[in-house]
Amino acid sequence: MCSSKVTKDQALEIIRRYEQVLAIINQYGKAKEQLLSILLDIQATSGENYVAEEWAEVVACQLDVPISKVHDVLTFYAMFSTVPRGQYVIEICKSTPCHVTKADAVVAMFEEALGIKLGETTPDNQFTLLHTSCVGACDIGPVAKIGEEVYGNLTAAKVAELVTSYREAKTCQK
Ligand code: FES
Repeated sequence: MCSSKVTKDQALEIIRRYEQVLAIINQYGKAKEQLLSILLDIQATSGENYVAEEWAEVVACQLDVPISKVHDVLTFYAMFSTVPRGQYVIEICKSTPCHVTKADAVVAMFEEALGIKLGETTPDNQFTLLHTSCVGACDIGPVAKIGEEVYGNLTAAKVAELVTSYREAKTCQK
């Protein structure tokens, strides 16, 4: 009897993803100087906003670069993650100027609106809630960054509005 823990569907999904990763690498001509772009595309197409170790290894192998170099890139740039995250990463600034303007209260507001705790991802993989350090918008603290957008002067109403608008944006993409 077959004792494999991988189902047929899981095996097919691994093959599909492997082919997708190879296609991304080939699209950039396997050029070492395109490492950053390749990793960004792999992250964007992961469905969970991260670069898994197995795909980092495929990149290293295909580009003929040491795996340590791929790891260096993945850990140096804050935009990368090596663990699954939601489509939208909400980062609450915890540096001192924002802290004194009640950043902790903003964390609680997002936790309430999303139904998760800091560091967690919503079950639908839409949002991950994290801390960050100063994003350079101290004059409008408390501040949250969602993707590349920065939102300031946050209140409970504004937080609820933001979560709703990002949820609706996701719905519209379907
Ligand atoms: S301290 Fe929060 S944006 Fe600068």
